[in-house]
Amino acid sequence: MEYGPAPESDAEARRWLASHREQQFGHFIDGIWSRPGKTFDVIDPSTAGVLARVSQGAKPDIDAAVAAAKQALPGWKGLSGHGRARHLYALAREIQKHSRLFAVVESMDNGKSIRETRDLDIPLVARHFYHHAGWAQLFESEFAGYTSVGVVGQIIPWNFPLLMLAWKVAPALAAGNTVVLKPAEFTPLTALLFAEIAGEAGIPAGVVNIVTGDGETGKLLVEHPDVDKIAFTGSTEVGRIIRRATAGSGKKLSLELGGKSPFIVYDDADLDSVVEGVVDAIWFNQGQVCCAGSRLLVQEGIADRLTTKLRARMEKLRIGQPLDKAIDMGAIVAPVQLDRIRGLVQRGVDEGATMWQPSWACPTEGYFYPPTLFTDVQPSSMIAQVEIFGPVLVTMTFRTPEESVALANNTPFGLAASIWTESINLALDIAPKIKAGVVWINSTNLFDASSGFGGYRESGFGREGGREGMWEYVKPVGVGIGDSGLGTGDASSRGNATHATWESGHLGRGASGPNDRANAAHDGRRPLRVPAINRTPKLFIGGKQTRPDQGHVRRVHAPNGALIGEVGEGNRKDIRNAVEAAHSAWKGWGKATGHLRAQILFYIGENLAARAEEFARRVDAQTGCGEIEASREVDVSISRLFTYAAWADKYDGAVHNVPIRGVALAMNEPIGVVGIACPSERPLLGFISLVAPAIAMGNATVVIPSEPHALSATDFYSVLETSDVPAGVVNIVTGAKDALARVLAEHDDVEAVWYFGAAAGVKLVEEASAVNMKRTWATWHRRDWLDARHGEGREFLREATQVKNIWVPYGE
Ligand code: NAI
Repeated sequence: MEYGPAPESDAEARRWLASHREQQFGHFIDGIWSRPGKTFDVIDPSTAGVLARVSQGAKPDIDAAVAAAKQALPGWKGLSGHGRARHLYALAREIQKHSRLFAVVESMDNGKSIRETRDLDIPLVARHFYHHAGWAQLFESEFAGYTSVGVVGQIIPWNFPLLMLAWKVAPALAAGNTVVLKPAEFTPLTALLFAEIAGEAGIPAGVVNIVTGDGETGKLLVEHPDVDKIAFTGSTEVGRIIRRATAGSGKKLSLELGGKSPFIVYDDADLDSVVEGVVDAIWFNQGQVCCAGSRLLVQEGIADRLTTKLRARMEKLRIGQPLDKAIDMGAIVAPVQLDRIRGLVQRGVDEGATMWQPSWACPTEGYFYPPTLFTDVQPSSMIAQVEIFGPVLVTMTFRTPEESVALANNTPFGLAASIWTESINLALDIAPKIKAGVVWINSTNLFDASSGFGGYRESGFGREGGREGMWEYVKPVGVGIGDSGLGTGDASSRGNATHATWESGHLGRGASGPNDRANAAHDGRRPLRVPAINRTPKLFIGGKQTRPDQGHVRRVHAPNGALIGEVGEGNRKDIRNAVEAAHSAWKGWGKATGHLRAQILFYIGENLAARAEEFARRVDAQTGCGEIEASREVDVSISRLFTYAAWADKYDGAVHNVPIRGVALAMNEPIGVVGIACPSERPLLGFISLVAPAIAMGNATVVIPSEPHALSATDFYSVLETSDVPAGVVNIVTGAKDALARVLAEHDDVEAVWYFGAAAGVKLVEEASAVNMKRTWATWHRRDWLDARHGEGREFLREATQVKNIWVPYGE
């Protein structure tokens, strides 16, 4: 049977475009349209015809939009959660009322099929606004102690234009932020339609502002000083630029970047379902999907059977005009993307892989590319490693489940994965081993507003959707209030000069610590005292006290200048050794039960309690805070260890209520090796407050203690040694904080870096982290570490974990 064409009408869409004079659009700022400025064409990729002209946002436009958002902020944030819920509900309703118009405009603008925009994109957009109307309603109770971040700059790509807008705008508004959004230059139209409809629906002026333009406009938004957070979806390359540009600015950042997601098929899988899964994984949206299952990994015995079936299915895929309701695949978004796909496919052929395409031809008008299958692909080849972002599937084979995991993780990305097997045991064994933020079992490309989406590794950080996503748009009340940023937060810049000095390669006179001065003052009349035993300052790496690589030491002084001890001067090599130790420790520690981790944390608390007075004396000697305050610091440190012992087996994930027959299991997973640069103040409590949550959640750590007051941490070596902490779970490298933190931030095998210190250090860490897009938690805001509201709790646990959503459909 042949399908005839079944075109959807574009009349209403054309009427809407024509309602803007000469199909020209300005920006939507402060509730009104600006006059079109310098404009560029918006092209229908299926015909190469011009649909409209939109304005290229320049500095005055971004300035005006950010100013409008800033002005609207107090009112929007001050509105009750219920008030914001009503607005979000209105948006959801309006999207449903205009759903066909949105679907058609989206298809025309992007080239994707009307079947997808009508049945997937737009319903999900509405769902997102409904779901987040709910979070707005519950905001005061479910996010008690948190407030909105402020003005949010949002930059989105062209592959799901309206859906990405919804993923960004809905949570931002629910949490009480105001927004300046820049759609992608290829696909700005549904964002403009949304702006118009939002205005008509009564969203207050300035709460949602849309500025169109290319990367230059995006750059202006990223760099604007009054923007408090940037949320970005797009290429890893631009993500890296944004990471560097926002480094040290205090802007909160979430990045949803590229992927090269594995689609793993075991030999007991239902192959007919697999074939349909592959169609959804890589030919949905012409493969222009960040989480596309673009690497098909097949168990050897069934590989030939599966590729034969796939070829037969590909032969039947229908490619054509996006508004035709009977087509499977539409057009590629733009000539530049088409060229990129062609170039990479040619590269694959040149590299020796076998390329196969169906026998039928693509339409000649517009930008179309056929579904493409590569076999005989080397895991290290270009097409197996880079994101093609087109309908191109590469196939590789494996023999054992172990090999499948190794192959799946052989990528710098970590966005998503699909696992196909009839054995739930195998599926649930493999899912946690795959480094990816979303795992679909016997399914693929499932999304829902209730379930977080986002990546591991170079696929970015932060989640969109559900409660997980809401955290990206809030900040704790009270933290950072009154701080001005530059150089305020940390005592180390001052401490450097007065409390600690770097002494190159010598041990000083006698180097006997506290008695140094006393001995020097000996005048010959008093009887000689027995000298203190000369202690060699060490680092703590791999469970052992080790000498610093260069043999240098750093003196630690009391506030009055008296020398009270020495610590090792760690360097790049020491950090590298520590990271290596942490990595091997993590292999076991990351899998240890919460119960075991709890026991060890309780035990550390117990052992610290046994030496509480000694630790209090040391805190007082270094900081001069007085005995009472120092004892308090130790007591709170013990309590904090108990807090994280308590949490170790209780920081549960969630079972998301997704609208399928099945569940999405949101698992909190450790991140891996976390580098921690402690604040200068509260030498013991600052250290414990950061190390305890990190290890409680199953991470291994490399810790740079307080730079001026490092002795509390070095005294702690022996507490760790006597508390059954496995070697390498906590590694401590004393020395120059910022220099060491930079090494951590640049290190490829460190998965996250926390930095508490001065603004310059924050910038340095954030910038350096762009190397492998590691997660950072870097802040110059001072905290009251003694106060449990600022010094412990869920904020720390969230930073110590990443969420993996595992979708498990069930039933026949
Ligand atoms: P892109 O990352 O350049 O563009 C995404 C958005 O960022 C657009 O709105 C763009 O205007 C903006 N932008 C570009 N440069 C910027 C800058 N310096 N500062 C701020 N904003 C900036 O992606 P593009 O060029 O559209 O596609 C290139 C490749 O990126 C694709 O071939 C694909 O591999 C990948 N990609 C991945 C996406 C994903 O969802 N992971 C989405 C889009 C593209």
